[in-house]
Amino acid sequence: MVAELSPKLIAEVQRAAELLAVQSRICILTGAGVSAESGIPTFRDKQTGLWEQYRAEDLASPNAFARDPRLVWSWYQWRRQLVHDKKPNPAHHTLAQWQQDAIENKKSFTLITQNVDDLHEQAGSMTTHLHGHLWRNRCHDCGTPYPNKAETLDSNKKSINFDDSLISCQQCSGYIRPDIVWFGEALPVQAWQTAENAAASCDVFISIGTSSLVYPAAGLAQLAQQNGAKVIEINPNPTPNTIVDITLAANAGVVLPLLMQKMAALT
Ligand code: APR
Repeated sequence: MVAELSPKLIAEVQRAAELLAVQSRICILTGAGVSAESGIPTFRDKQTGLWEQYRAEDLASPNAFARDPRLVWSWYQWRRQLVHDKKPNPAHHTLAQWQQDAIENKKSFTLITQNVDDLHEQAGSMTTHLHGHLWRNRCHDCGTPYPNKAETLDSNKKSINFDDSLISCQQCSGYIRPDIVWFGEALPVQAWQTAENAAASCDVFISIGTSSLVYPAAGLAQLAQQNGAKVIEINPNPTPNTIVDITLAANAGVVLPLLMQKMAALT
């Protein structure tokens, strides 16, 4: 909780609030760290159980799927079981409230995520997903969604079948795969365009819960700064992101509510 924050860090949160209170165009990039306090392991957390022998990077790729589609599909079914009962944490709720306030005050607020879970949406955020959606599937060969969107976006995920048998596409008999961007695959064009435009035109770019290791997402902070934005990073651990103006080295679920409180006190 806030008690875990040092006076120095609280002063940095105050400085961030004073910067944000006078700006009207905010761009947020989140990574797996924003869902960590909801109980979802981050991407580079060590894998557990049966999957301990595998690195996520070795499963989330077209080559891995071509080599052993059943293994990759099983891994995603396992991840869905891991995620399906997890709920948004204060970080998600704070970002959703902030976005709502921005809309009401006719300010610009864009939320971009690298995450494939839907916890931002569950908290009420409108979100741009750069790396796809864990709860959506499509044919690996012809791209046809599977099943139709309504069923896939079933809000009661408990009814989703976690069976790990491979499914064949009804259009072309290719294998069904998660609608997720794998290593070596292109990002969704519209999502990337939205992210680039928001980063290039914001006054403040906030990177939350990402190791800033994977491009092109990791390059958005630099694009923002090149266009005159200030950069804030919220992460309990250091990252290779060297262009940060304010570092808030603590858990997002603790820092974000405090940041909102301090911003509210300034308006
Ligand atoms: N609050 C904020 N940050 C946190 C928290 C927390 N409570 N807990 C952990 N973190 C930070 C970690 O310190 C780490 O820097 O979250 C970051 C998670 O980093 P990764 O596991 O690398 O996840 P991410 O940055 O989202 O990965 C980016 O890489 O593998 C691809 O497509 C995958 O979207 C993923 C992308």
